[in-house]
Amino acid sequence: MKIYAGCDHAGFKLRTAVMEHLREKGYDVEECMSHELNDDDYYSDAAYEVADKVAKDPNSKGILICGTGIGMSIAANRNRNIRAALCHTLYDAELTRLHNDANVLCLGERVMEKELALEIVDKFLTTDFSHFERYEKRIERLK
Ligand code: RB5
Repeated sequence: MKIYAGCDHAGFKLRTAVMEHLREKGYDVEECMSHELNDDDYYSDAAYEVADKVAKDPNSKGILICGTGIGMSIAANRNRNIRAALCHTLYDAELTRLHNDANVLCLGERVMEKELALEIVDKFLTTDFSHFERYEKRIERLK
């Protein structure tokens, strides 16, 4: 599965760890913005790049990391084909795949230990959408 991974300066360290973790597991990971640590970068630039790429590649997923994950989720969800979920727990990650068919995972480096973040990433990427009719209908209403 292709993974588009973006971050701003506040998510740079965790994004590096996530990319390394996923590449070790055999995922095809594309580094999106930001490519270097720059305190003046904008989370919205990374979010728009990842959202655009995921929207054009339906079998892919996106991962966006900033300080809290909040800015990334706000920005990514401006794309109508994106369902970006800010997750703090394994339960969040599991349910947002099962119920929302979320295609972008947002994380906050400043609010989470690396180990938990990597577990959340794994849960998000290995949980399939349930395809229950009631969840499909709810997603349809988002458009
Ligand atoms: C950057 O300082 C920080 O505001 C940003 O990474 C993010 O947390 C915004 O939601």
